[in-house]
Amino acid sequence: MATTMVAGRALFLALVTTIAAVFLHSAGAVRSYAGVPKGKNTEFIRRSCSSTLYSSLCYTSLVPYANAVARDPIRLARVATNISLARVRSVSSHVSSLRGADARKVDARTLSALEDCEETLGDAAGLTRQSVHELGLLPTSMDKKVAWRVSNVQTWMSAALTNEGTCMDGFTGAGNSAVKADVRQLVRLAAKYTSNGLALVNRLVQRDR
Ligand SMILES: *[C@@H]1O[C@H](CO)[C@@H](O)[C@H](O)[C@H]1NC(C)=O
Repeated sequence: MATTMVAGRALFLALVTTIAAVFLHSAGAVRSYAGVPKGKNTEFIRRSCSSTLYSSLCYTSLVPYANAVARDPIRLARVATNISLARVRSVSSHVSSLRGADARKVDARTLSALEDCEETLGDAAGLTRQSVHELGLLPTSMDKKVAWRVSNVQTWMSAALTNEGTCMDGFTGAGNSAVKADVRQLVRLAAKYTSNGLALVNRLVQRDR
C-alpha cells in the first residue's frame, strides 16, 4: 500500500515535471517568436526601471503591461502607481483585519502601532489613488500644467512613502511578534512599489530620460 503510494507519487511528480518542461519550452518558443515586435516595449520597461531603487521588482511587476504601456512614460508611471495602490490597499485592509482579530492577543504597544498603521496606510492609499487619478489627466505632451500635475503626484507619492515608513517605525519598541513581523514585511514591500512608482514619476520631468 505504502509502496504503491510512493510509486504513485513519483509517477505524478514525473508527469508534472514533464508537463512543466513542455509548457516552459513552448512558452520560450512563443516568446522568441513574438520577441521582435515586443522587444522595444520590454526594453523600454527595463531602461525606465533601471533608474528605480528596486529595479528588478520594477521590471517584473511592469513587464506584463509592456504592450499596454507602449513606451509611453506617462502610462508607465500610471500603471506603476496603480500597482502600488493595489499593494498599499491590500496591506491596509490586512492591518485592519489583524487589529480586529488580534486585538486581545498582542501587547499594547503593538496594538497601538496597528491602530496608527491603519491611519497612515489609509492615508498612503488615498494619496496613491489621487496620484493615479492625476496621472490619468495628463495629456501626452509636456506643458506647464503637466509640470504642475507631476509635481502634485511627486508630493503625494513622497507623502505616501513617508506614511508607510511611519507605520513601520510605529513598531519600534513593540515586543517581537508574528503580527509585527508580518505587517513590517508587507509594508516594506508596499513601500518598494511606492518608491519605484515615485521614481518613474520623477522621470517624467527629468530632461535626460
Ligand atoms: C488599476 O488596477 C486595477 C486592478 O487593480 C484595474 O482594474 C484598473 O483598470 C487599473 N487602472 C489603471 C489606470 O491602470
